[in-house]
Amino acid sequence: MQLKTAFPLQTVNTFRVEAVAERYVRFDAEAEISDYLNHHRLNRRRHLVLGGGSNLLFVVDFNGTILHPAFKGVTVVEKSRHHLKVKAMAGETWDDLVGLAVSNGWGGIENLSLIPGTVGASVVQNIGAYGVEVAAVIDQVEAIAISDGRKILFSPRECGFAYRTSNFKGPWQGSYIVTAVVFNLTRRPNFHLDYPGVKAAVDKLGRASLQTVRQAIVAIRQRKLPNPAEIGNAGSFFKNPVVDGNTLDRLADRFPDLPRYHQGGDRFKLPAGWLIERCGWKGRRLGRAAVHDRHALVLINLGGATGQEILELSEQIQGTVRDRFGIDLEREVQVIAQGS
Ligand code: EPU
Repeated sequence: MQLKTAFPLQTVNTFRVEAVAERYVRFDAEAEISDYLNHHRLNRRRHLVLGGGSNLLFVVDFNGTILHPAFKGVTVVEKSRHHLKVKAMAGETWDDLVGLAVSNGWGGIENLSLIPGTVGASVVQNIGAYGVEVAAVIDQVEAIAISDGRKILFSPRECGFAYRTSNFKGPWQGSYIVTAVVFNLTRRPNFHLDYPGVKAAVDKLGRASLQTVRQAIVAIRQRKLPNPAEIGNAGSFFKNPVVDGNTLDRLADRFPDLPRYHQGGDRFKLPAGWLIERCGWKGRRLGRAAVHDRHALVLINLGGATGQEILELSEQIQGTVRDRFGIDLEREVQVIAQGS
């Protein structure tokens, strides 16, 4: 366990903004969490569980305790002829797990290649990409209750997974530290190639296999999305808005080429990147923050931007999208601001 005070956060958030945490605790083993919680009563509003820091924007210093589960490890906990349950510890790097799964012939998460962050954060956020959400392969989530250090096992149903969210991010925010996740993987994968561009990218590489799907997804992401190791960013800054049929019809009258994805029932998802690009934001900068020139849903730090500058850019974007389309863009990124 590592305990620090006045801990600089710039290297632990992928936006690379400067901020300081009053206290920082890194757990190098699961058992250290209960020990720590037995000795420190944590106030619900003044702690934050850190994963890979790839979905956070610090606008102010954090006046509380950052809890960082950094322990790694992957084990097969059960296997039958075609299926297996694989347990990964919370601090495991998400894409290392995907790489390991693909090289071992375990299917189910290959479409989620190259998503930044950790295994623990993957369930909090219900990461998703190219037609697959992590919720679809979760068997169990192991967590520790911050109030009393108890270990709790959650079924996927209890986790309340929905588009880019879960109960860990919603009603239970601040209540648990995810310590490990058990995934249902398969040796007989059912490839998901329907997302636009995926099948064509796989075909270029040959027959669909775990390797070619991973390679194709990596290539698509590298073409469109900035590498957080090179340019500070947190992936999609906003969620794609979901509207009803009436709203869609009204918009489609004015913008006939508006792309839409039917979600079932009277629900249609609209690409926020398209809305933002149509408002002229793609590639534009505001101070040291900018909208990425290859993907308008991604805000970037050009170097030395403050969290406030990035937040201001995001609010201006929200304003123009609201004025032009009547749609309120909801943030996907968690903003740490005064009183948040
Ligand atoms: N588009 C534009 N201009 C842009 C960007 C996108 O017009 O600058 C339009 C295009 O019509 C494009 C459509 O948006 O066809 C969809 O774009 P893309 O395939 O890149 O996906 P997205 O909807 O922008 C979502 C996720 C991504 C995920 C991709 C692929 C959200 C908020 N984002 O983006 O996730 O990788 O789909 O599945 O749902 C993330 O969450 O951080 C993330 C990167």
